[in-house]
Amino acid sequence: MSNAKKTAIVTGGSRGIGFAVAKQLASEGYNVAILDVNALEDYRANFAQLDAMDADYLYYQGSVTDKAAREAFLSAVVAKYGDVDVLVNNAGVAPLVRSDILEMTEESFDRVVGINLKGAMFFTQLVVRQMLKQPYKDGRRATIVNICSSSAYISSISRGEYCMSKAGMAMMTLLYADRLAAEGINVYEIRPGVIDTDMTKVVHKKYNDLIEQGAFPIARWGTPQDIADAVSVFVSGKLSYCTGNYLDLDGGFHIARL
Ligand SMILES: NC(=O)c1ccc[n+]([C@@H]2O[C@H](COP(=O)([O-])OP(=O)(O)OC[C@H]3O[C@@H](n4cnc5c(N)ncnc54)[C@H](OP(=O)(O)O)[C@@H]3O)[C@@H](O)[C@H]2O)c1
Repeated sequence: MSNAKKTAIVTGGSRGIGFAVAKQLASEGYNVAILDVNALEDYRANFAQLDAMDADYLYYQGSVTDKAAREAFLSAVVAKYGDVDVLVNNAGVAPLVRSDILEMTEESFDRVVGINLKGAMFFTQLVVRQMLKQPYKDGRRATIVNICSSSAYISSISRGEYCMSKAGMAMMTLLYADRLAAEGINVYEIRPGVIDTDMTKVVHKKYNDLIEQGAFPIARWGTPQDIADAVSVFVSGKLSYCTGNYLDLDGGFHIARL
């Protein structure tokens, strides 16, 4: 089935950054398809916001780590909307327990890398195979945005598995950008710093203190909307002569200072 509106897939879109991205793209007229482990009922208030905007969305409860769920979700998206114009790889987790790299367990490594990197890698592979069947529209086929992290290059020895998963995602961005440039699919990456979501609740005081002490040139928490606005720019088509690029969205935290 075809649909004149463009369609965006957002993983992990029931809350936090993913939900802000979904809402932003819905406000720009996209059909939005969300794959998330949570039950929609648990985030009713968020989806009421999409309903109030008269947004067209499809919600599928499943994990990016589950091959059958990935395939069933994509089939449902294609059946409902037709082409997939945007993929935002946002689903991600922090370790359940922060522990020194000398104490890190294989279970925690497998969980975090399995969701943040392996899940994103193979879900992207599946979606790209669909995108490659699609015609060019306005000079391009589709756009992919990976929600990575400053942790791709900053060492945090109490959550090394998270850092390694995001460093791997940074290479994933380059690999897909390289492979897909000639296919009309550009691939971008956003590296958020500290964003005010449920994920950072456990370290709220630590980051509040750092912000107060001036660690961040722009002295405030980032918001999910900051990330959603950047996604909006990447999918706008106004950056058509660049691919494989990342954007630090971290209040200037990446600047080495003396
Ligand atoms: N917040 C920050 O400061 C920050 C900074 C840098 C990068 N990021 C990245 O930004 C992304 C979003 O983070 P956030 O802060 O919005 O986190 P969040 O509030 O925890 O939201 C993440 C969403 O992804 C879902 N999810 C988890 N595992 C999944 C899976 N296997 N399949 C599908 N969905 C899954 C989560 O479900 P559950 O409710 O079950 O967890 C949740 O709905 C992540 O990739 C994160 O690493 C965040």
